[in-house]
Amino acid sequence: MSEQDVLYEVDNGIATVTINRPAKYNALNTAVVGTLREMMKKAEDDDSVRVVILTGTGEKAFAAGADIAEFKDKDSKTVRPLAQNGQEFCKYMESMSKPVIAAINGFALGGGCEIAMACDIRYASANALLGQPEINLGIIPGFGGTVRLPRLVGLGKAKELVYTGDNLKVEEALRIGLVDKVFDSVEALREGTAALAKKLAGKPGIAIKLAKQSLNHAWNLPLGKNLDFEVDVFCQTFATEDKEIGVDAFLSKSKDKPKFKHK
Ligand code: COA
Repeated sequence: MSEQDVLYEVDNGIATVTINRPAKYNALNTAVVGTLREMMKKAEDDDSVRVVILTGTGEKAFAAGADIAEFKDKDSKTVRPLAQNGQEFCKYMESMSKPVIAAINGFALGGGCEIAMACDIRYASANALLGQPEINLGIIPGFGGTVRLPRLVGLGKAKELVYTGDNLKVEEALRIGLVDKVFDSVEALREGTAALAKKLAGKPGIAIKLAKQSLNHAWNLPLGKNLDFEVDVFCQTFATEDKEIGVDAFLSKSKDKPKFKHK
């Protein structure tokens, strides 16, 4: 893989990870998924980073899927690491202590849709097209699509999308909750995503981390256990300096926004 197949930059506490194979519509080969995973770890380990944006280069594609060229000579045994690799990357993003925003700047198909679903929030441009078209290749989603899609959009809609392989225009993706906001152009998407990232970067980091943990926890366990977990992490926020800062700012009717220390 070329070093440049994934770009990484940090600006004002916001890390942007960009899939950069525009000639292949940012298709996700094994090396790219591995580098994306490394870059996410880099963002996680950097204390100055508060929020991460995942996006694709250009105006055509976020990612048009796993790289189909890699499927050619694989069989049921040799393909397993490819799927596990993709799933592990998705799980890693979900386990990160910082919010990850997907800026979907065009096609988000197959693996592209799956990695977007593993992000915390999905913003998209008007030209975005989303879906799980694997059925048309005689296969099924393998980066977590059959697991995350029904949780986001409901079982019936997920079955319709996975069985038909039909791609969704962004208005429909917004309507069913697969994306959270739509922008008129890719440029407007970049601006809107940057504004959201800036807003989240100013929030108390520990409270964001614990909120993400509790929301994700709710995906995995029965109701009672989730409520217990929420009480635990709620209490943890009362051990932070940021709670003092935020509550004092409100009670003193300060006009300035609280300056959180993420401690
Ligand atoms: N894997 C590998 N290469 C891909 C790809 C993928 N998932 N998606 C697009 N590409 C490549 C094409 O092979 C082509 O490369 P080439 O110019 O070297 O031939 C280039 O990206 C542009 O794609 P092309 O098909 O020519 O563009 P288009 O505008 O006609 O169609 C798509 C765009 C996204 C609709 C079409 O490329 C497509 O259906 N891609 C596969 C989507 C898919 O099934 N994803 C799930 C995979 S599990």
